[in-house]
Amino acid sequence: MRIVFLGPPGAGKGTQAETLSREKKLSHISSGNLLREAVENGTETGRKAQQHINKGQLVPDKIVVDIIRERIVKNDCKNGFILDGFPRTLSQAIVLDEMLKNLGNKLDMVFYFAISKESIVLRLSGRRICATCGANYHIKYVPSLEDGICDKCGGKLYQRTDDKLETVLERIKVYHEQTEDLINYYKKNGILKEIESESNVESITENILKVIDNASKSASFVNLGVV
Ligand code: AP5
Repeated sequence: MRIVFLGPPGAGKGTQAETLSREKKLSHISSGNLLREAVENGTETGRKAQQHINKGQLVPDKIVVDIIRERIVKNDCKNGFILDGFPRTLSQAIVLDEMLKNLGNKLDMVFYFAISKESIVLRLSGRRICATCGANYHIKYVPSLEDGICDKCGGKLYQRTDDKLETVLERIKVYHEQTEDLINYYKKNGILKEIESESNVESITENILKVIDNASKSASFVNLGVV
């Protein structure tokens, strides 16, 4: 199964992708994480990407597309994947369709995470990430047991530099200007599933799983010639 998670910053895409990848044995491919890794490793790509990330703007299509092109052909993607944060522009979406077609595949579903601006700001201002294992927390909604320390590995929690209020507001603006159009693109393709994303983490996971399981059931009926 090949899935895209689409939605504004802070909507919960990464949180849900982590759980769903475990539940459904799918690879979790986060374009943001791949870019941050390149920044940390001090590569040429990372150096170019960093200036855009810090300003809350999109990294140029060519850079992101090359990273994703390399990633989706790896062995762990053979059984499917969740693309979290990619595509983010119409041209990225078109290239993705081409990439998958060349691999003899296609996207099965795109989940659009619908959420208000107020909730985005609350979520991102309280987000904390583990510096060692990358686990995701929120000081109020998803707190670690010990303040500032990761439950899973004992690593230190930090705040992403692009989670400062002014950068968050820029990221929201960029989302409306450059990414929102993808909702219509995938609606027209008939694969868009809207997920109400204001609720708690567990009920959102449950809703996503329901949509996937229902789609798998209908596909088996079609294969059996029942419908
Ligand atoms: P990226 O890392 O992809 O950031 P984003 O899309 O802005 O998404 P976030 O990671 O901020 O949010 P999320 O939806 O994953 O929410 P999360 O689960 O963490 O991109 C960063 C930058 O990289 C971009 O600005 C751009 O520069 C560049 N980039 C990346 N991809 C690109 C592309 N394709 N093209 C060009 N440039 C690209 O949740 C947020 C917080 O809320 C957490 O604290 C979490 O614990 C909490 N939370 C989650 N769910 C709930 C809930 N249901 N209730 C309460 N709290 C919740």
